[in-house]
Amino acid sequence: MTLLKIVTHPSSFLRNLSSEVKRKYIKTEEFQRFLDDMIETMKSAQGVGLAAPQVAKNLRVIIALDGEKPLVLINPRMHFKSWRKISSEEGCLSIPGAWGIVKRHYAVSVKALNRRGEKTKFRARGLLSVIIQHEIDHLNGVLFIDKAKKFTNPPKM
Ligand code: CO
Repeated sequence: MTLLKIVTHPSSFLRNLSSEVKRKYIKTEEFQRFLDDMIETMKSAQGVGLAAPQVAKNLRVIIALDGEKPLVLINPRMHFKSWRKISSEEGCLSIPGAWGIVKRHYAVSVKALNRRGEKTKFRARGLLSVIIQHEIDHLNGVLFIDKAKKFTNPPKM
């Protein structure tokens, strides 16, 4: 396993729109290794989520920590967002030291492909829902500092 280098703000990787992963590519050894590397990189950086653009790959792949378990979501799509919102303090491995309060949907329903290339569908609420929304934003070039209403620790840039 290889630890990947985490890209920090400002970087075009963090602002690009990421591309969908082709289904055939999911089963390749190269991509499977990349997923393992992403998981390892997230754990070693003590993050609760990681999106591929953060390791300089503009692909629609995110890892979200569901309790102890890393959840791999490929080409994730939110098809339901609760009306109810939740405000919580967020940080980002790509913006070291910055913390801010972001308001997000309390619950979301997500459709994605898992690491075997199978369709999955599930609903997340609370912290997991927040992590998933934060990571999906990365795939669209959006950072939490764009959405934070209040900073507990402002970004340096
Ligand atoms: Co982030």
